[in-house]
Amino acid sequence: MTHTPLITLNDGIQIPQIGLGVWQLDDKQAYASSKAALLAGYRHIDTAVIYGNETGVGRAVAESELPRDEIFITTKLWNADHGFDQTLRAFDESLKRLGLQTLDLFLIHWPLPKKDAYLDSWKAMVRLRNEGRVRSIGVSNFHQQHLQRVIGETGVTPSVNQIEIHPDFVQSPLVEFSRQLGIATESWSPLGQGGELLHEPTLARIAARLGKSVVQVILRWHLQNGHIVIPRSTNAERIAQNIDVFDFVLDAEDLKQITHIAQTGRLGPDPDTFDLGA
Ligand code: A2P
Repeated sequence: MTHTPLITLNDGIQIPQIGLGVWQLDDKQAYASSKAALLAGYRHIDTAVIYGNETGVGRAVAESELPRDEIFITTKLWNADHGFDQTLRAFDESLKRLGLQTLDLFLIHWPLPKKDAYLDSWKAMVRLRNEGRVRSIGVSNFHQQHLQRVIGETGVTPSVNQIEIHPDFVQSPLVEFSRQLGIATESWSPLGQGGELLHEPTLARIAARLGKSVVQVILRWHLQNGHIVIPRSTNAERIAQNIDVFDFVLDAEDLKQITHIAQTGRLGPDPDTFDLGA
């Protein structure tokens, strides 16, 4: 069984560098995948209100009978719940669905610049952390200007910014900006959603040389760039394969070549305009 390295966040809290992503899985699938992941040695699961599967994740965690402090659970504030009071209420509801007393990481899912409420949501998250109800707080899909604004207005730097990153959408300027502020970057859709990227020739060549799968090479690229990474799978063998990435390394040339494959861009929406559910 594999255990993943821990990354220490800017508040001193440690997060396992690989977690299971459960986006697009229904409650039953999220339950089964979470169970398989915990068995394979994962100690970190990343869900969100909008995924509709917090209950399934929570059930798998409870049934694992692992000590609570060995598992790291993230959920996210949905777009419809922005605002100070709404955030506090949404947090309570998420905890209840997860069946937890405290959460490890709570993220603002999207900034919704047009709604312009993320500052109030952030203030509520700071309060939740000060009350000890959540250990770490962060954001997702924030651009530089959104990060600057929450830090400037509240003096509290998010621990994490979870953003879309895969080798054909590397987001180097935002990653570097975050690094300078001490914000850890977490990659969503790290495998490019299992699409064309898995057939990219540079990745295929490196994988063949190392005797690893393309997915394992992609995951090493995230890890060696310092990203926290949350690959999703519904298949127990692939779930286990995705955490079995600690017996090889990519060299500097591999890393450079992967970072410079054709940048095909976002698969998901642009955070500046995305406002689903708001
Ligand atoms: P499956 O659930 O059938 O394993 P992302 O994390 O970037 O969103 O990518 C998720 C997609 O990648 C899913 O479609 C998943 O399919 C696929 N996937 C996950 N792990 C692997 C793997 N080890 N090999 C091939 N495809 C994978």
